[in-house]
Amino acid sequence: MVNPFSIFAPAKLNLFLAITGRRADGFHDLVSVVATVGWGDTLRVAAGVPGEFHLACDDPSVPVDERNLVLKAARAFVGATGWQGGATFSLEKRIPMGAGLGGGSSDAVAALRALNEISGERLPAGKLAEIAATLGSDCPLFLSDGPVTMRGRGERVEVLAAPAAVRLRGRRVLIFKPGFGIATPWAYRQMVAMPGSYLAVDAAEERLRAWIEAADAPAEELLFNNMEGVAFAKFVALPTLFEQLRDRFAVAPRMSGSGSACFVFLPSEAPMAAMQQLIRSAWGDGTFMIDTRMT
Ligand code: C5P
Repeated sequence: MVNPFSIFAPAKLNLFLAITGRRADGFHDLVSVVATVGWGDTLRVAAGVPGEFHLACDDPSVPVDERNLVLKAARAFVGATGWQGGATFSLEKRIPMGAGLGGGSSDAVAALRALNEISGERLPAGKLAEIAATLGSDCPLFLSDGPVTMRGRGERVEVLAAPAAVRLRGRRVLIFKPGFGIATPWAYRQMVAMPGSYLAVDAAEERLRAWIEAADAPAEELLFNNMEGVAFAKFVALPTLFEQLRDRFAVAPRMSGSGSACFVFLPSEAPMAAMQQLIRSAWGDGTFMIDTRMT
């Protein structure tokens, strides 16, 4: 192992997200297809004083105390392994918070992977996934490479079969986020309060199966997110821009997770400058944008 070493923590996009109902434990069941992208945070890890874990971050708005999932991941790793070592983490933060891009979850999994490596692979993949699930619903997906399906509250992750994954991998995508974020717990609470916001699990599975089995169905036909209803009802700038993008560029914009980040697959001859200008004129100069690809 090189000390210190860097680990890439990618952002994710929910291409398909069906929240199917509320569970007895207060969480929600979902059926989702998630892809990671070739852009994200970088976590640097150096061996540290035994028993001590420290975190620094280049973004001053990110908490670097025990609230940060990176340090929670370190505690969980020590709890599961009894490892006596320590580490100093340094996080280069690019993924915005409150975006639905899985930034904090991806950082946590990067920390778990790093500690597992430093400590001499103490945990097998199954145990890492178990720990990841205790840290957050969106954590386990980051242990896989490439597009996955996700079920339960997020802990049942399967790699998407190759004929379907090939329709997603490498597709160019523009991610754009308004100046405000959306808190995930708020979005789920709104869904509880809004009648008809869930999609029945059978309908969700049927929709997903139909796309997987239609060998020539492009990524655009998979796109679905029933969390958009509650987000769009409050943040009207989102559907307003979506309508403009559809009208002007014949593209299919979608929100990722509970938002507020959105994305659009880019055609090969994408009129990028015009598209970015439209997004900026609708949401202002503080709009975050990144041009990347699904991995
Ligand atoms: O698991 P995570 O910490 O990401 O969840 C944040 C909040 O989002 C939970 O406290 C819960 O209110 C909601 N949530 C949910 N069902 C899920 C995932 C998250 O209700 N499957």
